[in-house]
Amino acid sequence: MPNPASRPAVIPPRRPPTPASAPATLLAELEPTPPAYVAPADWQGLADAVRSCDRCKLCKTRTNTVFGVGPTDAPLMVIGEGPGAEEDARGEPFVGAAGKLLDEMLKSVGRTRSDNVYIANVVKCRPPGNRDPEADEVAACRPFLDRQIELLKPSLILALGRIAAQRLLGSNAPLSKLRDALHVYGPASTPVRVSYHPAYLLRTPADKRKSWEDLKQVHRALDRR
Ligand code: URA
Repeated sequence: MPNPASRPAVIPPRRPPTPASAPATLLAELEPTPPAYVAPADWQGLADAVRSCDRCKLCKTRTNTVFGVGPTDAPLMVIGEGPGAEEDARGEPFVGAAGKLLDEMLKSVGRTRSDNVYIANVVKCRPPGNRDPEADEVAACRPFLDRQIELLKPSLILALGRIAAQRLLGSNAPLSKLRDALHVYGPASTPVRVSYHPAYLLRTPADKRKSWEDLKQVHRALDRR
């Protein structure tokens, strides 16, 4: 397990950082307070708890929970929005068309889910019809995501897409603004960068170039960790 103290704490922003993370009041507006819950503090217990979770209505329509994938000492954590149909069927994040593009993008900077990237979502169950996850669902799932981050201790989080970024950061800023700032998350003040969701890039290939710039910046910040 790499020594977290030896990892770079922050990466250079494109512009002077702006305080894009939302104040607690905004977070409270976006996410209702869920019932108190302390997530298991070890990977196996956490995975088991997610598998049997019934903390929100998504448990009624899911086929499988989608916990996360990757080595548990990965320095990069990628966070998406929520499982789609293929992820729900297979129980693994980003395995559909968007996932294939994500894998290609990560590979171009020497990263794979089997080797050095951990991939998860803000919600672990598929929202029906691929709708956006709702605030109460994100809030119910938050203790699982927070524990994953706490256990993984990533050097950097890359949030993909507006919904994942807004929900993670408790902000309602547009993606363009979130993408242009360096954020921090959680008690460990983990640096967070925001980029485009691969599903959006499939629909808007013209923005792949900007996404490539984002990935190169992530790569430089991680310095081959
Ligand atoms: N989109 C996401 O945000 N996450 C997945 O796991 C798959 C598609």
